[in-house]
Amino acid sequence: MRSRRAALAATASVASLALTLTACGQDSDGGSKDDNGSTKGATIGIAMPTKSSERWIADGNNVVKDLQSKGYKTKLVYGEDDPDQQVSQIENLITQGVKALIVAAIDNKSMNNVLQQAKDADIPVISYDRLILGTPNVDYYASFDNEKVGELQASYIVDKLGLKDGKKGPFNIELFAGSNDDNNTRYFFGGAMKVLQPYIDKKQLVVRSKQTALNQVTTLRWDGGTAQKRMDDILTSAYKSERVDAVLSPYDGISIGILSALKSDDYGSKSKPLPVVTGQDAEVASVKSIIADEQSMTVYKDTRELAKVASNMVDALLNKKKPEVNDTKTYDNGSKVVPAYLLEPVAVDKTNYQKEVVDSGYIKASDLN
Ligand code: GAL
Repeated sequence: MRSRRAALAATASVASLALTLTACGQDSDGGSKDDNGSTKGATIGIAMPTKSSERWIADGNNVVKDLQSKGYKTKLVYGEDDPDQQVSQIENLITQGVKALIVAAIDNKSMNNVLQQAKDADIPVISYDRLILGTPNVDYYASFDNEKVGELQASYIVDKLGLKDGKKGPFNIELFAGSNDDNNTRYFFGGAMKVLQPYIDKKQLVVRSKQTALNQVTTLRWDGGTAQKRMDDILTSAYKSERVDAVLSPYDGISIGILSALKSDDYGSKSKPLPVVTGQDAEVASVKSIIADEQSMTVYKDTRELAKVASNMVDALLNKKKPEVNDTKTYDNGSKVVPAYLLEPVAVDKTNYQKEVVDSGYIKASDLN
């Protein structure tokens, strides 16, 4: 793993260098073709899942910026967490003649028909962050090491509870996972459970709600309100005199919901400290919550880099070059193993948020006031 990770960093810079642009003449739709017949100035369709989370707004803007800097035009659409709406948006993009598609799916299994239309129109498709399942018509996958995300969250809990240092517990933990229609969910949860399961087996960690199977702990559309309600119910039914010591949360929006439920039950007071609560995405509200000693950590994924990877893939494909990949084994979508470029996630808490997310320019210091 370690050497693959080192290779990731090295190939990231190569990927951006490798795809040099060539000067070209105009084609019929205002684009231009170089000597290899590629289409510069073509329009690329970008379908993002929702504007309700700041990360996806940034993802959309970053992909647009990167493609425009390479000379492409862009059409960016948001499906507002409605799979049918997203499918019809993609149909429209195809009708409008886009030359490639970058798709972060809402429901990873809803795309078969529309991606067949893309294939028939010779439009390559990049699966963005979330793998699209059950169709051969996905050309490449740009994402992060999703299993590692779960490992980072769970290892943080293990460290903070001191389980490795010999603290025996038992400690009470509750488990939350993401949306069941997002393929990432099972990777995040699988990665986390690999770390947590041995402690659950030894009864050093106890899940008092007894909800441990993935289908019992998912959160449809990653909705914070849904998570808050589930945490409320768990606190009422399983924690009469007991305390929660840790909550595995896969995503910042869910963490904020969980924290609201906990705070309504007096957690965070002197006599009832908040449990360790994980997260993902380094969203502003959660980084503020970390600074305020509420959420414990988040997993930072530099989505600026992800946007670059996806834009480079499109540029390579339209220039009839092979996109740079660093994983050709992990992401089987049920129809084929989709070649992937995976970036590295980073665990962030109060000790390193400044360096990782502020100094790197991901979040402005002034947004954290
Ligand atoms: C996942 C993504 C996470 C988080 C979540 C909710 O697909 O990998 O980083 O953003 O969606 O939006």
